[in-house]
This record gives sequence, structure tokens and C-alpha cells, in this order.
Amino acid sequence: MATPERFRRLWETLLPVGRDPAGGWVRYSWSEADLACRRWFAEQAAARDLVLETDRNGNLFAWWGDPRAPDAVVTGSHLDSVPHGGAYDGPLGVVSALLAVDVLRERGVRPRRPVAVAVFTEEEGSRFGVACLGSRLLTGAIDPDHVRTLRDLDGVSLAGAMAAAGVAPEGIGPDPERLARIGAFVELHIEQGRRLVELDAPVGVASAIWPHGRWRMDITGEGNHAGTTRMSDRRDPMLTAAYAVLAANKEARLRGCHATVGRIEVTPNATNAVPASVVAWLDARAPDRAALEALVEAVRVRVRERAGRDGTTVTMTAESVTPPVEFDAGLRDRLSGLLGAPVLPTAAGHDAGVLAAHVPAAMLFVRNPTGVSHAPGEAATDEDCAAGVAALADVLAELAG
Ligand code: GLV
Ligand code: MN
Ligand code: MN
Repeated sequence: MATPERFRRLWETLLPVGRDPAGGWVRYSWSEADLACRRWFAEQAAARDLVLETDRNGNLFAWWGDPRAPDAVVTGSHLDSVPHGGAYDGPLGVVSALLAVDVLRERGVRPRRPVAVAVFTEEEGSRFGVACLGSRLLTGAIDPDHVRTLRDLDGVSLAGAMAAAGVAPEGIGPDPERLARIGAFVELHIEQGRRLVELDAPVGVASAIWPHGRWRMDITGEGNHAGTTRMSDRRDPMLTAAYAVLAANKEARLRGCHATVGRIEVTPNATNAVPASVVAWLDARAPDRAALEALVEAVRVRVRERAGRDGTTVTMTAESVTPPVEFDAGLRDRLSGLLGAPVLPTAAGHDAGVLAAHVPAAMLFVRNPTGVSHAPGEAATDEDCAAGVAALADVLAELAG
């Protein structure tokens, strides 16, 4: 049975991995912490006699049933994190999937379809910049030659990081044969908001994901002395970046969208120097594709115009753009009926959203009392997590049992 105590016992075996003294969890893909998460997953798979596979993109699959058989029911999420993120975003879906397998076995369920627990690589894009990297590669949504050249902040390429972890980077890319064997994908995830609190429900079913993306703004000016350079002589890229932050916020508010500049890099990053250049990342999300395009275009126009006044130059490059996702309506209705759970949309990206373009996909959300996510304040009670496990077990039994 899915109990809070059982959830807690397994949860605590993963909890210390990547916990950062400065707060939250730091589990970047292919880092020491990520490798420890992968070892943890391998141990959990072995303890359950699940057959572990690492696919050519570094995604992990632990199989209950024949990995070669068609029409598999796959469930899972990711173990990587944003910088100093919360505990639940990603790991809750993996831990719940393992526990759901335990519950089904105890119930004596013998699946007609193979079941797999999956862990996708670099869902957050925190190291190499592209969100849902593992699922995008698997589904062919991104060019592997481009991906091999992606570099982290220390200049390490994705190819180098994978090779150092013992996974051949030459093999990354679309895996149509594997994808064709997935008959359905269900991702359980912490809710990243408070809708389930408002609805007084421990578990919900996803309806859709807002289109969203990341744009890198490279702003170049002229490095100079902070004390001696006359204000009128400056070409300060920080002014353009500051304006970009405000413009993004204003345009998003006016349009009922979301826009954030949460990351900025300043060169040379000296207190007594006018910066030479600034890189700022825009994260933009909107209810529909046209609104997203209009939002990003409005920010682009405003920032260009401001750069003209600042004597700087700006280029805006899309790093990853995700189209809107409508989850499979049949599956959504079947699951919400089965669970008696409310249906809600989200503006967060997920591997389930990437897979949804290829296989019937669904998501379950577990109530988050703080509503906080991508920060250490992310929360769930063990009771709600146990309810999530029970719901996922019911879903797997319905689909595969
Ligand atoms: C993923 O968590 C995202 O929406 O950024
Ligand atoms: Mn996330
Ligand atoms: Mn996530």
C-alpha cells in the first residue's frame, strides 16, 4: 500500500544527494551529484529486479517486463535540478514511479504491457542551456550536432561531460525505434503553483502546457573606468540589460503572459568598471503561440531601441522554444475520471510535453502547499505524496494491468 511512511523511507535515500550547504539542491546533468542520482536509480532498479538500460542520449529506463516488446507504458521524470532548486521537481515523479511498481506487485498485478520507469537527462537545461534535452534528443526535436557543441559555464562541452561519465556522445540523437516502443507516457510531478490547494485536491491531471522558451540576449558596449568616464561618454550594456528586465516584465503583464530575466552574466563583473558586455536570459511563456511570439517581439523591439540610445548592440537568440502542448484528451479524461481528480494547465515545461508530440502522454500533479518551485521552498506533505503514488499505481494498472 502507498503510505506516507513508505514514501518517506524511499524519499530519504535520495534526499541527501546534491543537497547544497548554500540552500536547496544542485544536481546538474552529468555532474557528480547527477552521477550519484543515477547510481541511486540503478540500485533501486536492481533491488526491484528491473532491467536497467541507458539509452544513447543518457536517459535511463528500468523495465518491468520485456524491454523489446511494443506498446510499453512508461512513467518517470527527471533527477536534475535548477541551481539551488527544490527537492520535488523531478525526483517526486521518479520515486513515485518506483513505489507505484511496488504497490502493483503487492496487489499481484501482472502487466499485459511492459512498464518502465524513466529518468530523462537534463530536463531543466541548467547546465547546457536547453530544457528537456534528453527527451528532445530522443524524439528528434533537436539537432545532435548542435547539442554536442553546447558548453557549460566552465567551457565543458556536453560531449566531454558525457564521455567523462562513460556514455558515448557519438550516439546522441533521435531514437525512433525506442520511441516507437513507448505506447503511453505518464509523468507525475509536483504542482508548481497553488491551484490544487485552492481546489482542495491532493492530485490533479494536466490539460495543457503553455508555449514557452528561452532567449539569450548578448549586449555589447564598451568597458571603461567607473570613476573617470563621463556619463555622457559611456556605452554601458548594463543599462540596456536593466531596461530589458523592465520591458519584459511590463510587456508580460500587459499581455497576460509570464516573462522573467533570472540569469545575467556581466563582463568583467567589476565594481569599478563600466561593463564591456552583459548576457541576460529571457524566459517567456504565454497562453498561446501567437501571444508568445508577440511578447518576445515586443521585448526585442524595445530592447533594440534602447540599445540604440545606450550606444550598445544587442542580439537575441532563441536557445529553446517549446510549442503549446495539449495532452491526449482521451487519456486525460480517462485518468481524471479514474482518479476523480481535477484537470489543470501549467506554464512549466516537462519531458511529458516533448513526448506528447509522439505518444499519448499525460501528467499527474501533486499538491504543493507553498506553491513555490525552482526554489528550496517547494513542498509536499508525505500524505499527498502517498496519494500521488496510489494515483499513479491506479493509472498504471488501468493502462497496463
Ligand atoms: C521546467 O521546469 C521549466 O518550465 O522551466
Ligand atoms: Mn523544473
Ligand atoms: Mn520538472
